[in-house]
Amino acid sequence: MADALKVGIAGLGTVGASLVRIIQSRADELATTCGRAIEITAVTARDKSRDRGLDLSGISWIDTPEALASEADIDVFVELMGGAEGAAARSVRTALERGLHVVTANKALLAASGVELAKIAEERGALLNFEAAVAGGIPVIKALRESLTGNTVSRVYGIMNGTCNYILTRMEKEGLSFADCLKEAQRLGYAEADPAFDIEGNDTAHKLAILTTLAFGTQIAPDEIYLEGISNISIEDIHAAADLGYRIKLLGVAQRTETGIEQRVHPTMVPRDSVIAQVDGVTNAVAVESDILGELLMVGPGAGGNATASAVLGDIADIAKSQLGTQRVPVLGTPAVALAPYKRAQMQSHEGGYFIRLTVADRTGVFASIATCMAENGISLESIVQRGKPDGAESSKTIILVTHATMEDSVRKAVDAIKAESYLAGEPQVIRIERPQTF
Ligand code: NAP
Ligand code: HSE
Repeated sequence: MADALKVGIAGLGTVGASLVRIIQSRADELATTCGRAIEITAVTARDKSRDRGLDLSGISWIDTPEALASEADIDVFVELMGGAEGAAARSVRTALERGLHVVTANKALLAASGVELAKIAEERGALLNFEAAVAGGIPVIKALRESLTGNTVSRVYGIMNGTCNYILTRMEKEGLSFADCLKEAQRLGYAEADPAFDIEGNDTAHKLAILTTLAFGTQIAPDEIYLEGISNISIEDIHAAADLGYRIKLLGVAQRTETGIEQRVHPTMVPRDSVIAQVDGVTNAVAVESDILGELLMVGPGAGGNATASAVLGDIADIAKSQLGTQRVPVLGTPAVALAPYKRAQMQSHEGGYFIRLTVADRTGVFASIATCMAENGISLESIVQRGKPDGAESSKTIILVTHATMEDSVRKAVDAIKAESYLAGEPQVIRIERPQTF
């Protein structure tokens, strides 16, 4: 049997601790599958004294991630700390420059510096694997990077944040508050160190930026993503969506258009009977539409220690099996030097259906005025309904509009025109509607 693959792990939190337990408990099976043992030889984290419930005997504790990357006797540097900058960025760069293979679950780092890191890896003949960075345990990176080679992708979209999907599901099904659901997601180890990254959509945007590059062969462009999170989705929106036959999901969508590639992350109403609407809790789903294969949907656990460690372990096993140790697959699907510039399609030209919820004074003529603002901007309505406020307030009413496919620009202009009227009694809520082709 070949020599053991020596692994150094930086970060022993939710994912790192799960990874250590899995590698230790399945040592024999892994050695058989990979043709060589996988041995954790060195680890690091911030606090050496913390009891992590792990058996670290026989494993060297290294004081800093940078020292682990630059000095330790390892073949693979596994980064499970997080953050686009700081120790994670420094140590991953150092490890690659040293020619070590790197495995990371850090989507923030890849979104910010993925192309630069891929170039270093490709120059040094090192592998940079990051299956866990997008959609937790779902093997979506491998699918796009390897299995769909030759396909022209037209759209990639999905539920890519377990925390948000968990919150939206429990709010809808159990009537729990947003804050309580978030606390529970944090307790279960789903949320980022700063959960604002989850609920404001940044985490989904980081993942989408990575998928866009793999799907369309363009430079990573996380700052070119239209971004809205779920923090202003109320239980009233969730109930209104249900009444209309929809569920609300935080989707990331990247699609080829005539003017460029549209990248957007926002709460989205999807038809209740679509497959993607049934994806609940921490589960993620990623759909890919391409010309040769057609439509592909991958569904599975999107966050949590074991689900994520499963993907990290798959990446380590790939390295262990690659006896040559040279780069066989470009890190980002296309060699980093050959990635095309990213050309953004403007959000104003996005076309789709819209849900618009307005809280208005209960006055004669309001309905007609709203209908006029819509018509003047060329918006055709699928439905318009008026309801009393759930709190029973007599003086205001809720009006819910659903549009046929229309341009984002027209919707923004119509909503601005309504805002200029005197009858609005609250900020309008606008939620885009997505109708998946198959799923
Ligand atoms: P976590 O529970 O917060 O653990 C982070 C670990 O990194 C801790 O052990 C911490 O040390 C260590 N660390 C942080 N900064 C450090 C520094 N400057 N020097 C040394 N050690 C440092 O995070 P996690 O949930 O395991 O996530 C790790 C990575 O995986 C992140 O990039 C995250 O986005 C990604 N990810 C997470 C999930 C998930 O479901 N949790 C899923 C997919 C991807 P101490 O323990 O001593 O504080
Ligand atoms: N915080 C992330 C999520 C972890 O909730 O999806 C998985 O990337």
